[in-house]
Amino acid sequence: MVQENNATELLRWYVESGIDEALEDKPVNRFVAPETNEAESASLPTPPLPEQTGVADASATPPTISTPPASPPTPRPPAELVSRDEATKSARAAAKAADSLDALQEAIAAFDGCPLKHTAKSLVFGDGTVSAKLMFVGEAPGAQEDRQGLPFVGPAGQLLDKMLAAISLQRSDIYITNILPWRPPGNRTPTDSEIAACIPFIERHIELVAPEILILVGGTSAKTLLNTTQGIMRTRGKWFDYSRDGMAAPLPAQAILHPAYLLRSPAQKRETWMDLLEIRQRLDETTN
Ligand code: URA
Repeated sequence: MVQENNATELLRWYVESGIDEALEDKPVNRFVAPETNEAESASLPTPPLPEQTGVADASATPPTISTPPASPPTPRPPAELVSRDEATKSARAAAKAADSLDALQEAIAAFDGCPLKHTAKSLVFGDGTVSAKLMFVGEAPGAQEDRQGLPFVGPAGQLLDKMLAAISLQRSDIYITNILPWRPPGNRTPTDSEIAACIPFIERHIELVAPEILILVGGTSAKTLLNTTQGIMRTRGKWFDYSRDGMAAPLPAQAILHPAYLLRSPAQKRETWMDLLEIRQRLDETTN
């Protein structure tokens, strides 16, 4: 009972520390070198098989019940250490060479400059209608997105659906993706290096989708794509020009509060409602 309580306490501590995902099916004892394991497994006594034992002999030494030898840990190839500049440079070359969304997704899958790739389960690329006029860009996948390989399918995504419905839109009326295609462990805020490594991909993603209006969901997306240090409370509710080299014309872009933040601070929903009306109006103007 005491042990059970300890285990529960330990699990709670893990979750509170952000350790809420198992990365491997089995635990890996990193204190045991693979050679030691092999040596141990070779010397482990093998329990006799039923056919060999026949009728039980009371005088015989009872078979030793041993746990099967642990298979030696499969070492993951060490992540290549590349500088932030090198990672961005190689992402830029790969993104530039991608002439379709499928090619971009493949390029991201082959990219090794962002360590999040090794801790995430899935590459979360995008969802919705590619020909939509509205493109939404969030921060990074969360736990459910990582599991399903789709952006905004967890609680924040469900609130986003309600926000869209409030202006008579549904998922199929928009295209949606994130700044980062991989989940940061424990949903922590992405680091500057992770963002820098992946920026060329989201920029190319926007270029290939070529929407008419860009919606930046939350502070990280707004700061990254508007290239500003201003917080979301200052950037939301205003129109900006999103422009990059090679674009025929700048795109109107607006930042909105992140639905994950609205779940924690529902009092801010009023502002977001005004922002959504503004976006709806702009969309109607483009449509006409
Ligand atoms: N938050 C994000 O920014 N993106 C997702 O896909 C899910 C939650």
